[in-house]
Amino acid sequence: PSPAQLTRAESLIAITPDFPKPGVLFRDIGPMLQDADALRTVTEALTAPFEGGFDLVAGVEARGFVLAGAVAATAGTGLLPIRKAGKTPQPTASVDYALEYGVATIEAAGDLTGRRVLLVDDVLATGGTLVAAARLVEQLGGEVAGVAVVLELTALGGRERVPDAHAVFAA
Ligand code: PRP
Repeated sequence: PSPAQLTRAESLIAITPDFPKPGVLFRDIGPMLQDADALRTVTEALTAPFEGGFDLVAGVEARGFVLAGAVAATAGTGLLPIRKAGKTPQPTASVDYALEYGVATIEAAGDLTGRRVLLVDDVLATGGTLVAAARLVEQLGGEVAGVAVVLELTALGGRERVPDAHAVFAA
């Protein structure tokens, strides 16, 4: 995508002060997803550095599903939706992790032996979600081929935990 397309897409991220609690500046990719050109631009920007290097895309519930689905459909790969606890009938892998606003568990089922997995999410904040997702993929026998996010929140330090993450935008 061109710099102008990226600038326009970034401008469609909505900023809300004091959500979900006082003092937090919440960045919502919702308006960006609703715009056809911005969605295509961001999907291409997430995918480009990893072209040809992955055969499965994984995203974490809930907003990660949307972007992982877009990347998988564009790249022509399969999709692994990584679910929060209690949604997978017979999980074969489970990882607990700390969130920016609490604690969570993610689960999945399947055999990813020999699969090269691109992890995609909307936001890199503390990095807890993506570290947990990488562990989950490895528990299932897969190899993490890369990590791509739309937006890195630099103040929250996630890059220290996910040093190789590709972020389309940073704030
Ligand atoms: C948000 C966001 C990322 C994660 C980033 O998800 O979608 O997955 O937090 O934070 P971290 O880097 O500190 O782990 P959340 O768990 O709030 O779920 P949601 O997508 O259902 O809102």
